[in-house]
Amino acid sequence: MPSPTIARRKPYLVEVKEGKTYFWCACGLSKKQPFCDGSHKTTDFEPLKWVADESGEKLFCACKHTRGQPLCDGSHNQLSDVYEEAKEGDGAALVDYQEQEGGALKAMLDNGCYVIRVPDEAMLKRGSMQFYSVIGSADGANQLSQYVATVTTGESPILRYPGSDAVLFVGSGKGTVNIGGHEFAVSAETGVCVKPDEAFQVTNNDTAPIVMNISVCPHCETPEFLDEMPTTFDVSVPDRVQGVDESKQEAMADRFFQVLIGDKSHGTPVTQFIGEIPQSRAAHHRHLYEETITILSGEGFMWTDETKTPVQPGDTIFLPLKQAHSLECTSPDGMRLIGLFYPSMSPAINY
Ligand code: FES
Repeated sequence: MPSPTIARRKPYLVEVKEGKTYFWCACGLSKKQPFCDGSHKTTDFEPLKWVADESGEKLFCACKHTRGQPLCDGSHNQLSDVYEEAKEGDGAALVDYQEQEGGALKAMLDNGCYVIRVPDEAMLKRGSMQFYSVIGSADGANQLSQYVATVTTGESPILRYPGSDAVLFVGSGKGTVNIGGHEFAVSAETGVCVKPDEAFQVTNNDTAPIVMNISVCPHCETPEFLDEMPTTFDVSVPDRVQGVDESKQEAMADRFFQVLIGDKSHGTPVTQFIGEIPQSRAAHHRHLYEETITILSGEGFMWTDETKTPVQPGDTIFLPLKQAHSLECTSPDGMRLIGLFYPSMSPAINY
């Protein structure tokens, strides 16, 4: 069987109706992409009949190389050795960071997209934990909330976000996370999954602080501070931490990502991934989810349609649903980042 023709290297966003039948073009020759117009008759390909099981927006594969026909599975990113680079000019307005009430610095980009950096002196203190809300409903988020936090020597408060998944990422330091009486060792670049209605506590027996972020989906901005650790623990997911593992990394042309926490590994609707990008600027793209990115190393610019702002390690980026964006890395050694989005799907699915 010959390879299908690549109609384009990004999926088509289509509003489908529950119960309606669609015929997806598998040959890539149709002029009515992503659907069939009869052009396959000169080939060995047949269109794929697909019935929508729900109404809503779907991303139909246009590269014709998806393994999840007819929907995009991110395979279009594998069709070249080099990730698609931006062609847009440099007309975007440079946005400065403005000090916020509370002391954080924020650069507001298009459509509610922003970058926030939190000086140490702005952090709020509770016991051995310092924290600051970087994403919440007041910032325009509809689905997720996120805190940056540090835990100095000792035990953090016992926290619970009722009804929500909490996903932690330890950026530096080492210690343990207790979830419902089950203890897990954590160190730099470790993701941790806490299921709904479970509580957690971070312990740092070292002198170096544990620097982390806490993401909560669906958003819940007022944690419960508990006096005692409840025993609630979802035994169907015994393993709760995941560190960097090269055997689990997935390539996207000349960049890679590794899902640390996700639906397949931890049964959570939140996806947390760690990624690395080379010195480059990706083409603008969008996702069907709200996303947050934290820069771990490297510098560059966050671009939207009309604006851009510099980013550096420690910065948190909030991307509203469908926000066109690209992240430029200007560091010769590349940029390392942690991303998180909700609801769950592959980080490679973009349009
Ligand atoms: S467009 Fe084909 S896999 Fe995404």
